[in-house]
Amino acid sequence: MAVDRRLGAGLAILAFSFAFPYVYDRYQGFKLILDNAPEKLPNISAFASAEIKFRDEVKNCEDAVMDESRGIAFLSCDSSRDHWDVIMGTSIDPAESGAIYKFDYASTPNTLVRLSLSNFPRPADFHPLGISYHSQSNTLFVVNHRSSGPAIELFSYADHDSTALYHIRTLTHPLIHAPNAVTALSATSLLITNDHFFSIRAWPFLSRLEAYLAVPIGSVVHVDFSAPDVHMTQLARLPLPNGIAMVNATTLAIASTSRPGVYFYDVHRPTDGGSIKLELKRVIKTRFAPDNLRVDSQGRLLVAGHPHPPSIEAAIQWSKRGDRSRDAEARPRSPSWVAEWDGRRARDLYVGGEYGFSSTAVRDVGRGIVIVVGLFERGILVGRE
Ligand SMILES: *[C@@H]1O[C@H](CO)[C@@H](O)[C@H](O)[C@H]1NC(C)=O
Ligand SMILES: *[C@@H]1O[C@H](CO)[C@@H](O)[C@H](O)[C@H]1NC(C)=O
Repeated sequence: MAVDRRLGAGLAILAFSFAFPYVYDRYQGFKLILDNAPEKLPNISAFASAEIKFRDEVKNCEDAVMDESRGIAFLSCDSSRDHWDVIMGTSIDPAESGAIYKFDYASTPNTLVRLSLSNFPRPADFHPLGISYHSQSNTLFVVNHRSSGPAIELFSYADHDSTALYHIRTLTHPLIHAPNAVTALSATSLLITNDHFFSIRAWPFLSRLEAYLAVPIGSVVHVDFSAPDVHMTQLARLPLPNGIAMVNATTLAIASTSRPGVYFYDVHRPTDGGSIKLELKRVIKTRFAPDNLRVDSQGRLLVAGHPHPPSIEAAIQWSKRGDRSRDAEARPRSPSWVAEWDGRRARDLYVGGEYGFSSTAVRDVGRGIVIVVGLFERGILVGRE
């Protein structure tokens, strides 16, 4: 009996000591949420000047990529994010398809063009999220949340003055089940994050539980379509993997939104043509829930995200209740946090609420320009350094 009791106590202590790091980690996560209440958050801007542009032309831009050689940025935007039924694919409204915009930030005056989609089967059912640009092949890769299920779309953008993207190919696969962000390793090789194991569409309750408990079951998938048969491999699992970017030739960074931080992996590419392997080297904690990642030409990692997840949740709930007559301006707001990491030190670039919902930041080092886009925000923020 005594032995049984001791065994029970021993097992309980053992279980607790295994659970402790997890409980402590979750406590840190919730403490961060309390510390970052929007009314407590300072307004910080490290830019010499910053301006919100195109407030009436564009809204709800989740992602952005730059082609510094041409002085242009592509923005991935979806006004239908104001209405949950369109996001969830229960309705197709051609008036509310998403779009890729081209922002000529180096021209005077700066211009913004909504690119049409040529050779694309269903332009009314285009809901772009993460994007990646491979400049050598002028290929834009786009995560598209279609009503019939997610896909990766390939577009060509060869001519700088063109107002259209030319559709080349659609990639679908069971392993691309909840795609969020994508990064091109070459013209025929991609890394993709699936932010949830339980998709929000099919499992609304379990997907929220997965996010709140930061269960490490989101995935990173490698897609290789150099051969006629598309090859997909799952490389890693982590809690709510979101932004993804190569820091240099051998290091990959992935943002975890639910266990706020950036995971750094060594990328092993076997010379015999076998599959890529990832080896986790380091995790850096952030004081906000990171969304997308970009690397500038000096190798600095730009991390944009959300300091106060309950505010994002409130904005999403507002869209779910969405009655289309309501003015999107009335939606609850969520502050921004944009920081950079140079390998040794972190520096805040933009914190606060004037331009909210920051989801991606990109930088043109030569021209001293940083562009920030916001998931549920009107316009884009252009900072000059
Ligand atoms: C790549 O970046 C990682 C992380 O910052 C660093 O440890 C590594 O030395 C870099 N590798 C090269 C080849 O520059
Ligand atoms: C930060 O800016 C927002 C929006 O402009 C404003 O409402 C808020 O009061 C400011 N916060 C502080 C701490 O100054």
